[in-house]
Amino acid sequence: MMPTLPETMTAIGFTAPGGPDVLRPETRPVPKPAAGEVLVEVAAAGINRPDVLQRLGGYAPPPGASDIPGLEIAGRVVAVGDGGSRFAIGDPVCGLVTGGGYAQYASVHESNALPIPVGLSLIEAAAIPETYFTVWTNVFQRGRLKAGESFMVHGGTSGIGTTAIQLAKAFGATVIATAGSNEKCAACRELGADFAVNYREQDFVSAAKEATGGRGVDLILDMVGGDYISRNYEAAAESGRIVQIAFLNGPKAEVDFRRLMMKRLTHTGSTLRPRTIAEKAAIAAELEGKVWPLLAQGRCKPVIHATFPFAEAAAGHRLMESNAHIGKIVLTM
Ligand SMILES: NC(=O)c1ccc[n+]([C@@H]2O[C@H](COP(=O)([O-])OP(=O)(O)OC[C@H]3O[C@@H](n4cnc5c(N)ncnc54)[C@H](OP(=O)(O)O)[C@@H]3O)[C@@H](O)[C@H]2O)c1
Repeated sequence: MMPTLPETMTAIGFTAPGGPDVLRPETRPVPKPAAGEVLVEVAAAGINRPDVLQRLGGYAPPPGASDIPGLEIAGRVVAVGDGGSRFAIGDPVCGLVTGGGYAQYASVHESNALPIPVGLSLIEAAAIPETYFTVWTNVFQRGRLKAGESFMVHGGTSGIGTTAIQLAKAFGATVIATAGSNEKCAACRELGADFAVNYREQDFVSAAKEATGGRGVDLILDMVGGDYISRNYEAAAESGRIVQIAFLNGPKAEVDFRRLMMKRLTHTGSTLRPRTIAEKAAIAAELEGKVWPLLAQGRCKPVIHATFPFAEAAAGHRLMESNAHIGKIVLTM
C-alpha cells in the first residue's frame, strides 16, 4: 500500500559556503519521484569529501541536481515514479544520487539504486555507493586492473582508499597503499594491502619500486595530484596506467613528461557525479553482478569509522576535515 507522505521534510543544507557550522536543518518539499525514479525514506547517508568541497563553495552541483549535499543513501522505497519496475514500495535499497542525500527523503533513478547487499545494515549500505561506483569505474573499467598486476592507491584509509584496497585485493592484484601515519598504514594492511607506505616517513616511489622488484606499479589511483604527478610517473611500470580522481594537493604541477613517453604510460581520470544516469546504470549493473556477491560473502565490506545523527552533520564534516578518520563517516536518521 502507498504510504501517506508528508508535503515537507527536514534536510541539511547551507545558504552560504563556509565552515562545517554553515550546515543547518532546513524545511524543504518532499521530492516527487520522476519517471523511472523511486522515492526513498532515507535511513542513512554517507559523507564524502566532495560534500566538504561543495560546502566550501568549490564543487557546485551539476545542472538539475539538488543543492542539498549528499551523494549516497540507503533506506526504504516509499513511492515509485511512472514506469518504475525494479523496486516495490517497502524494498530496502541503497543508491547513488547527484545530491540531496542529507534529507529525510531522496529520489534516485531505479537503475542507479541497488538492493542492500545480503547481511549488511542500512548504515553499512549507505557507505557503499559513492566509493564503490568510483573505484569500479576508475580502477576496473578505466584502469583495466587485472589479476596478477600491481596496484597502488594514495589516501589508503580514505573512503575511496579502503574500498580500492579491498576490491583490488579481491580481484587478485598485489596492493600497495600510501597513508599519513603508522596507524593508518596498519589499517591498510588489515584491509588486505600487501605493502603500506607512511608517506611522511618514506618515499613512496622507492617503496613502490622495492615492492615490485624494481619493475614499478601497473596501475596507480591518485587523489593527491600536485607533486605526486611526477612521482607517480617515476613509480609506474613500463606501460603503466595512472587514474586521477582528485587533486587534494592541487591541480597544477611541473612535470617532466619524458617519463610518460619513454615508459609508454597512460594518464587518465574521471569524475562520477556529472555522468549520465545511463553511464551510472552500467556501473551499477557491473557492481551488482561482480561485487555484490563479494559483499554478501564478507570478502569486502564498507569500513565505518563513525556515525552522526543527521542534525549533527557539521560534526561529521569537522571529523572528515581533521583527516583523523579511517574509512567512512555516515549520517543516520
Ligand atoms: N573523481 C571522482 O569521481 C571522485 C569520486 C569520489 C571522491 N573523489 C575524491 O576522492 C578523494 C577521496 O574522497 P573520500 O571521500 O574517500 O575522502 P576522505 O575519506 O576524506 O579521505 C581523504 C584522505 O586523503 C588524504 N590526503 C592526502 N593529501 C591530502 C590533502 N592535501 N588534504 C587532505 N587530505 C589529504 C588524507 O589521509 P592521509 O592522512 O593519509 O593523508 C585523508 O584522510 C577526494 O579528493 C574526493 O574528492 C573523486
